Parts: sequence; structure tokens; C-alpha cells
Amino acid sequence: MFLGQSCRRWRVTGAIAPSGRALARAMADAVGEVAPGQVILELGPGTGVFTRQLVHQFPAARVVAVELNPVFAAHLAEAVPGATVVTGCATRLGAHLAGLGLTPADVAGVVSGLPLLSLPGDLPQRAIAAVAGALRPGRRYVQFTYSAWAWRRFDSTGFHRGPVRRVWRNLPPAFVLPFTRSE
Ligand SMILES: C[S@@+](CC[C@H](N)C(=O)[O-])C[C@H]1O[C@@H](n2cnc3c(N)ncnc32)[C@H](O)[C@@H]1O
Repeated sequence: MFLGQSCRRWRVTGAIAPSGRALARAMADAVGEVAPGQVILELGPGTGVFTRQLVHQFPAARVVAVELNPVFAAHLAEAVPGATVVTGCATRLGAHLAGLGLTPADVAGVVSGLPLLSLPGDLPQRAIAAVAGALRPGRRYVQFTYSAWAWRRFDSTGFHRGPVRRVWRNLPPAFVLPFTRSE
């Protein structure tokens, strides 16, 4: 299914296969502290590799997964019933939170599988701005990328970047970029 969607919508899918479990664990580990009842927002969950890990690793949290592709979103809602799936664009995070009766105060962190390097136009920058708007200072935004170098072209004003972690056991190997929302 992933490959089929990738062929139909390459620029927004940005990969030919789902991430591996080692990357999912590294992404979840980078989220930091999550209090019971708090929300972890996931952007671009695809077929749910990160979603499953988040639900497993943070059983007392609520995982809200925002997916643009309705085919992936429908699959995910069935495959991972422990998560709340929103079909929509990551750039509209404020509206998605409000629709669920949530505010940034509820959000412990954001985990993003968005393919920022292949998304068209100003979508990547608008997605990053939406993340900044959804996070209180001190909270984490965890992004994965296949090129930590190319990623530098994005403006991450409003975030401090922590140490990058490389995950070799992924096809292709990937980087986990942990950002903390600044004041
Ligand atoms: C590289 S795939 C990652 C999927 C999954 N997280 C993984 O690692 O296997 C990118 C995902 O982001 C989704 N996506 C792309 N643009 C989006 C947007 N603006 N809002 C929400 N999801 C988006 C795609 O449909 C796809 O599911």
C-alpha cells in the first residue's frame, strides 16, 4: 500500500517504504517527558510505524495523528485504534487541535514523519510554523530526515536544536532531529 501511494503521490509521501522500528524507537525516545493525559501530536503517520511505537511507549498519553492522505488515514484508524486519527494538513494544526477541544497547553510534544525535503513550495516552512504555534516553550518537536545537511535550508527560528542521532538500521539510514521550543 505504501509503495502504491508513493507512486501516486511521490512529493507528499517522500519515501518508497515505511520507516523501520529502530527509527520509530529513536523518534519516541526523543520526545522526553510526557505526563499522563497529555497529547503527543504525530504529523504524517503514513501506515503507522511511529504511531504504534508512541501508543506502546506512552500508554497514559493520547496520540493524535494528522495525516493528509485519506487512504493512509483510513488504514491507520483501523490498524491503530489506540490513536486519534485526523485526516488533514499539518499546516492546520491549530484548527485540528481546536476541533478536538485541545489547546497547546495539552501538547507534550510533536513527532513528525513529514517529508520536508520533498514537500512542494512553502508547505515545509508553514508546517514548521504550525508546529511552533502548537508547542509551549520547553516542549519537543522531533523530526526525521534522510539528510541532516539538506535540512539546514529550513528556518527553525523559535527552536533550539539538540544533538542529532543517526539511525543506521533504517532503509535508507535516517537522522532524528530533536528541537526544543524556545521562549
Ligand atoms: C515519509 S512518509 C512517513 C510515514 C511514516 N511516518 C513512516 O515513517 O513510515 C510521509 C507521510 O507524511 C504525509 N504527509 C505529507 N504531507 C502532509 C501534510 N501536509 N500533512 C499531513 N501529512 C502529510 C504523507 O501522506 C505520508 O504519510
